[in-house]
Amino acid sequence: MQPVKRKILLNPGPATTTDSVKFAQVVPDICPREEEFGKVMKDVTERITKFAGDPEKYTTVLFGGSGTAAVEAIISSAVGKGKLFIINNGAYGKRMCEIAEVYGLEMEEFKSPSDQPVNMEKLEAAIDRSAGEITHLAVVHCETSTGLLNDIKAIGQVCRQRRTKLIVDAMSSFGAVPVDMKEMNISFLAASSNKNLQGMAGAAFVIAENTALVELNSIKPRNYYLSLFDQYSFFMESGQMRFTPPVQTIYALEQAIKELEDEGISNRYKRYSGMWEKLISGLEELGLTHQVSKENHSRIVTAIIEPECPAYSFQEMHAFFRKKDITVYPGKTGEENTFRIANIGDLNEKDIENFLILLKSYFRVIGCQS
Ligand SMILES: Cc1ncc(COP(=O)(O)O)c(C=O)c1O
Repeated sequence: MQPVKRKILLNPGPATTTDSVKFAQVVPDICPREEEFGKVMKDVTERITKFAGDPEKYTTVLFGGSGTAAVEAIISSAVGKGKLFIINNGAYGKRMCEIAEVYGLEMEEFKSPSDQPVNMEKLEAAIDRSAGEITHLAVVHCETSTGLLNDIKAIGQVCRQRRTKLIVDAMSSFGAVPVDMKEMNISFLAASSNKNLQGMAGAAFVIAENTALVELNSIKPRNYYLSLFDQYSFFMESGQMRFTPPVQTIYALEQAIKELEDEGISNRYKRYSGMWEKLISGLEELGLTHQVSKENHSRIVTAIIEPECPAYSFQEMHAFFRKKDITVYPGKTGEENTFRIANIGDLNEKDIENFLILLKSYFRVIGCQS
């Protein structure tokens, strides 16, 4: 097949993919109820589980949908009569609070600054003075709105001491930032096919402890399509998803998983980190600063403070880069005016160098220089 025109996606997913992942979607038509396709899904889920834990103790449950479907499936399925405690230090923590509210869950929001690590003493104090039994705690791993990386191991330890189940939205960290569910004490983790896995959009998944999945059977259902227990038990019994799977996305995911296995998670993170180092030093040369300090940074996505320059407009900058097959991304926090650059996907340091050269020339042309 002819190579596909390469586009440089600097948005935090869907990410730039390899041609081999793109072409993996071009397969003979198949009814997804065939045993043959069931085997593909089983293989895909088992290999995803291995990226985060022992497949004897953890299981990946697939859903057709964007990443939010996996987060919503966990929140709406996992919490029984107890209380859900949510750490909100960015747009995706806030989204989990909104989901919990929609489902009428008993919930407590713990707000923490979007550019600082969570203060563990304050967190523990808030948990301990909370009225009612906190059965679950939810947190985002890499806050994609800022790039802040939350310390899941430390938060997992707080949960372990209190027998609280930990829910992690690992959407923008999974596949790059190493995750060990046992060591981090994570019961439920949400992620999707199209970020660091470098697959196509359309498949969301939950990786969960088998014991926690089985316990869901005793919770009165609040959802239908997103029922984590039903999706899990149906797949265990039949080797099928309950509803139509995103067939071609799953074939692409199978190839993307192979490519991640070949590269290895630590090497992928090393590659991303190398691009990030380049990005940060280039931004510094241009006099630009970013929201989250280096020590607390995910090295995945960076919220860059917009220059105070009358000629600067994100929309115009976006259009300038789009003409050069590069996509830059707007900011999300609302606290500071930022734009975002993600260094994920099938990219390399040369792509970042090229982006920085263009950014410098763009700022020069619009008369915006420090
Ligand atoms: C941390 C996090 N959670 C959830 C989502 C939502 O994923 P989606 O847009 O695929 O629904 C995103 C998307 O960027 C994310 O970064």
